[in-house]
Amino acid sequence: MSENISVLIKREDVEKRIQELADTINKDYEGQEVTLICILKGSLFFTCELAKRLTIPVMIDFMQASSYGAGTKSTGVIQIKKELDESIEGKNVIVIEDIIDSGRTLNFLLKVLSDRLPKSLKLCTLLNKPDRREVEVEVDYNGFDIPDEFVVGYGLDYAQKYRNLPYVGVLNLKE
Ligand code: IMP
Ligand code: MG
Repeated sequence: MSENISVLIKREDVEKRIQELADTINKDYEGQEVTLICILKGSLFFTCELAKRLTIPVMIDFMQASSYGAGTKSTGVIQIKKELDESIEGKNVIVIEDIIDSGRTLNFLLKVLSDRLPKSLKLCTLLNKPDRREVEVEVDYNGFDIPDEFVVGYGLDYAQKYRNLPYVGVLNLKE
């Protein structure tokens, strides 16, 4: 099997869009502080790039969920693999995700987090595949709507590879 990657969103365009998202968040939360919840591992790069551009006080915590095995298809079963270190009660929380596909991961995580009584809870994703949605998820900040293709780079992986690519690319698998 050979793997080849074609560029879908180039580096400058990803970074320009992240700056726009940061500008919006800076305005929306003016005079307040926010806790970013980075959903490991895919949103690590996006969280860093976004956080660097925020001018409001920011705290960062990490959570890991899993819905995928090593391949490109979801198993549909969500588990929390790593819990937050801090309480989010009474805090402004923004969940930072790499991509929303079926919506199952975020639908599950947002329910879990809202039960912990944050002051506010929003969702920010770099990528969104609206055609693939199986359960409803309200997205507050969306980088890009993309077609139904398996993408890698900018934190997103295929079997743990390609997270370090500085752009978003479509993975093509050939026999
Ligand atoms: P959902 O629960 O189906 O919305 O899946 C969300 C998770 O699946 C994301 O956080 C990614 O880890 C993974 N995922 C979905 N689509 C892709 C993709 O195109 N490339 C890499 N990972 C993906
Ligand atoms: Mg992920």
